[in-house]
Amino acid sequence: MNEQSRGSTPRTLTFEIFRFNPEDPESKPHTQIFELEEEPFMSLYIALNRIREQFDPSLQFDFTCRESICGACGMIVNGRPALGCKTLTNNLPEHITLFPLPVFKLVGDLSVDTGTWFRQMVERTEAWIHPDKDFDGNATEEKMSDELSQAIYEGDRCIECGCCIAACGVANVDPEFLGAAGLNRVARFIVDPRDKRTDSEWFEIVAGEQGVFACFGMMACEDICPKDLPLLEVNAYLRRKMLASRFAASNS
Ligand code: SF4
Ligand code: SF4
Ligand code: FES
Repeated sequence: MNEQSRGSTPRTLTFEIFRFNPEDPESKPHTQIFELEEEPFMSLYIALNRIREQFDPSLQFDFTCRESICGACGMIVNGRPALGCKTLTNNLPEHITLFPLPVFKLVGDLSVDTGTWFRQMVERTEAWIHPDKDFDGNATEEKMSDELSQAIYEGDRCIECGCCIAACGVANVDPEFLGAAGLNRVARFIVDPRDKRTDSEWFEIVAGEQGVFACFGMMACEDICPKDLPLLEVNAYLRRKMLASRFAASNS
């Protein structure tokens, strides 16, 4: 049972929030303090809306689904990337710092443009099915085992929140690094038998300087992922697959 459900005195929370509007030449990066009475089961979504309503309507942040589905609300909460809608204030200390995710282009305050990063990743990896025959709308649907469809679904659970990219030391130094989300996307198509790309085509996509071998394997991505995706398992799978395909190519 937490403090709130025991009915103890509500806390006064101090929010220290990053402010900067890159569109305004007068704006300088700084933090601004807001104080707010904590409410039962208050998420950062609720807290930020209260702050915007009560203190500053110009505060920028993104939320859409409020249910950990859309991936819009990633931010740095007390030093760790997290979803604002999933983070409850009663799991945080009274002093809460909020910063925008790094790596992605800043829109303003806590709002970042993850879409451009994900779009370039999708285009670079051609993250769509590459069949070896033309589409036939009259063909009988091909069956797939439950196990295989589950493996594909697992890769599709990524909500593109960008938290793993923001947490990744390599992606922070090299924004072109595919990162855990990009590698997860590649693996999703490799396991899909409808995608007919060859091992050497996959090697070109995933084994370059900004691919799987650039990863340090320090697990920040898996620790942070709000959907609990097995990102290191995916990484190990890709490494094994790339090494096996190179070994087979050198022996042929
Ligand atoms: S394990 Fe690799 S992809 Fe994940 S955060 Fe570390 S360097 Fe980045
Ligand atoms: S892999 Fe996880 S942390 Fe990374 S973008 Fe997808 S859901 Fe977010
Ligand atoms: S608002 Fe959609 S994931 Fe948080």
